[in-house]
Amino acid sequence: MTTMLSLTNVDVELGGVSILRDITFDVREGETFGIVGPNGAGKTTILNVVSGVVRPVRGR
Ligand SMILES: Nc1ncnc2c1ncn2[C@@H]1O[C@H](COP(=O)(O)OP(=O)(O)OP(=O)(O)O)[C@@H](O)[C@H]1O
Ligand SMILES: [Mg+2]
Repeated sequence: MTTMLSLTNVDVELGGVSILRDITFDVREGETFGIVGPNGAGKTTILNVVSGVVRPVRGR
């Protein structure tokens, strides 16, 4: 199955604070992929990395 989206070892820091650490996942063609977590877990930050609004300090 074709990989449509791939995050590898993504770290994000905002305001000098570690927000995401070592985020790695693939989303494949046709797959329904959910991101679940409590308030402040970093779900929106992951989407902001994917859209390019937030730049990771490590990973790709
Ligand atoms: N610009 C910023 N500067 C500093 N910290 C930030 C910034 N944006 C978000 N954060 C912090 O990053 C963490 C993750 O926030 P994020 O909005 O990604 O969480 P979320 O999982 O989407 O939360 P919710 O379920 O409330 O939508 C939180 O601790 C938040 O306070
Ligand atoms: Mg959110």
